[in-house]
Amino acid sequence: MDQDVVEQIGTIVGENNYSTRIADRYTYGFDSSIHHVTPDIVVQPRSAEQVSNLVKLANRLKIPIVPRGAGTGLCGGAVPLKGGMVIDLTRMNAIKEVRVEDLYCVCEAGVVYDSLQKALAPFKFTFPPTPGSAEACTVGGMVATNASGMRAIKYGGTRDYVLGLEVVLPTGEIINVGTRTLKNASGYQLERLFVGSEGTLGIITQVTLRIVPKPKKMAMIVAGFDTLEKAGKCVSALIAKPLLPSAVELMDSTCIRAVNKAINAGLPDVAALCMIEVDGDPKVVADELAEVVKVAESIGAVGLQQSDDAGQMARWTNSRKSVMSALSRYGAGLVSVSLADDMAVPISKIPEAVVEFSRIADRYGVIVGTYGHAADGNLHTKMLLNPESPESWRNGEKAVRDIFDTCIRLGGTVTGEHGVGISKAPYFQKERATALGAMAAIKKALDPNNIMNPGKMQEWEGCIIQHLRYPCADQKN
Ligand code: LAC
Ligand code: ZN
Repeated sequence: MDQDVVEQIGTIVGENNYSTRIADRYTYGFDSSIHHVTPDIVVQPRSAEQVSNLVKLANRLKIPIVPRGAGTGLCGGAVPLKGGMVIDLTRMNAIKEVRVEDLYCVCEAGVVYDSLQKALAPFKFTFPPTPGSAEACTVGGMVATNASGMRAIKYGGTRDYVLGLEVVLPTGEIINVGTRTLKNASGYQLERLFVGSEGTLGIITQVTLRIVPKPKKMAMIVAGFDTLEKAGKCVSALIAKPLLPSAVELMDSTCIRAVNKAINAGLPDVAALCMIEVDGDPKVVADELAEVVKVAESIGAVGLQQSDDAGQMARWTNSRKSVMSALSRYGAGLVSVSLADDMAVPISKIPEAVVEFSRIADRYGVIVGTYGHAADGNLHTKMLLNPESPESWRNGEKAVRDIFDTCIRLGGTVTGEHGVGISKAPYFQKERATALGAMAAIKKALDPNNIMNPGKMQEWEGCIIQHLRYPCADQKN
């Protein structure tokens, strides 16, 4: 990048708020996916005005921009494919308002999910999506990817809480979309357009989120099964009962073994388990627990355990949250990679999907750990690959293709909560085939110079095993 441009950027954000040092640029070439591309400059603005001035400069000089929160994304949404400027929003981290009487809060985009939860806790309120990366991820990143997590079955995902946004458009114009009211029939729901836009349409600088009262009580049940299919059947039987648990997490034997080995989680050594959480009024929780037990037993659950003790529930939740990192310690030379990692299918298709995923894994000789938020049909399949072996990547890619074909055939989507990024782009294009033209038209209307996260979504070309962060012999970088 020209020194002259670097100086103009420095004038906008001030010293210590940008860097062209190779170590910084290298670091900002990653998110938590398998991909990596080094940007030309990293900038850390403090206000929407600074973001706007950066965008105006970039738009004039046609410099690619990738906005970024904490970099916890798992599929490459924040990887700067075409280099250029990474705009890190984590320094815009003020919680500006908490208005429980109006059921909303206003945060700058860089507010960390758990910090917001801490700010809401004294009021006994919550922003419920509960992403796996709650300790680090930012609300702006959550909106940009429509992130969710364990409680989406009962409480929905991020999009269900976005009342309004402040966005810097690719021209540098600052706009406000949505409202601070719970209801809004005021024309195009443009705030929804930016949910899941992954930095391709503008930069989200402030979010107004709906908040809800925290449930008075919670309790959990862990139910083991002798087949993965039965665990899947338990999920759909619970939902069809009807019951509305606040979470149902499924784990297969690979995931159970991985967390038992990595953190000594002490989970039962079964083919699969469901961790079921219910919440609400204490009386309702007691009734629902009893119903969950009945349903689980009718499917053949073994070794049922239940608890409402905060410590025990935190241990169970922590063991579930540790699956992803634990899988990387499962076998020597193998790492857990995020490929085909968060598909969603209609809930009743979960048993069929999990059986098909293990067939696909066997077909290509790939170890796949299957777990996830089964009650909303959202599964994680982490593949264990040797990242230095081109053959291992090729097998992984074939398994990805078949897994996504299965999801689409079952009426599902290639991504339920992590977004498209790079890792899912060609399969997203297959899933959304009829809508790609409309997406391209929206993109062109808002971003005629194509500076915002270029090359992603409908623009992506080629296979997903590109721009890898691993030293793999035949990668196309
Ligand atoms: C989780 C992440 C992977 O649920 O979405 O742990
Ligand atoms: Zn998840």
